[in-house]
Amino acid sequence: MARSAITRHRSPRGHASNYSVTTVYGCPLPLGWTQSEHENRGGKRAWQDSNLRHTAPETVALSPELQAAGGIGLQLGSDIERRSAEIGYWFGEAFWGRGIATAAVGVLTRYGLETLDLTRIFAVPFASSSASIRVLEKCGYICEGTMHRSAIKEGAVIDQVLYALTDEDFARRSLMA
Ligand SMILES: CC(C)(COP(=O)(O)OP(=O)(O)OC[C@H]1O[C@@H](n2cnc3c(N)ncnc32)[C@H](O)[C@@H]1OP(=O)(O)O)[C@@H](O)C(=O)NCCC(=O)NCCS
Repeated sequence: MARSAITRHRSPRGHASNYSVTTVYGCPLPLGWTQSEHENRGGKRAWQDSNLRHTAPETVALSPELQAAGGIGLQLGSDIERRSAEIGYWFGEAFWGRGIATAAVGVLTRYGLETLDLTRIFAVPFASSSASIRVLEKCGYICEGTMHRSAIKEGAVIDQVLYALTDEDFARRSLMA
């Protein structure tokens, strides 16, 4: 695919107002929630608080045409987990299936492990999020197990899976590439 980029300068939020995106995403999104989700999470304030904990609150991923295609960020751990971070991402449906998510997750993973000196980046996609799981696996993330009945989405109790990539596995992978 053509090169994609990650930047802080544009807002992709219009693309979040889409049920296909919000139904498989765990974090608060500013648009596209059901009313009850909005109320349960404290609305806009929860979105802002959530973003304040990210290293890159306004980071968006760009499509090769330089349109804002979605959002991606690292939520840094603290105290004894200060060298761990959770990666989260979503992309507008119009941009799916073009390798943009894989490129963006790959770039931010490298940034986290090499520049931020993290020892581990992890993600917790829903067990049913096959595309998201595929993106993580293509970027070298390894499945560490199923977190049975660990989340509630739209009133249903669901499983999540824990995927992680350590600095050591990343270095080994880079050597082999
Ligand atoms: C998950 C998501 C980021 C993927 O974006 P994308 O731009 O389509 O991803 P890519 O094009 O880089 O790669 C998608 C991969 O998943 C595969 N895929 C797509 N749908 C799939 C499905 N239903 N089952 C299995 N694999 C699937 C694609 O074939 C591709 O793999 P391939 O290159 O080996 O063929 C996007 O669907 C999204 O934003 N979803 C909503 C939010 C979300 O789920 N966020 C992740 C939370 S952890």
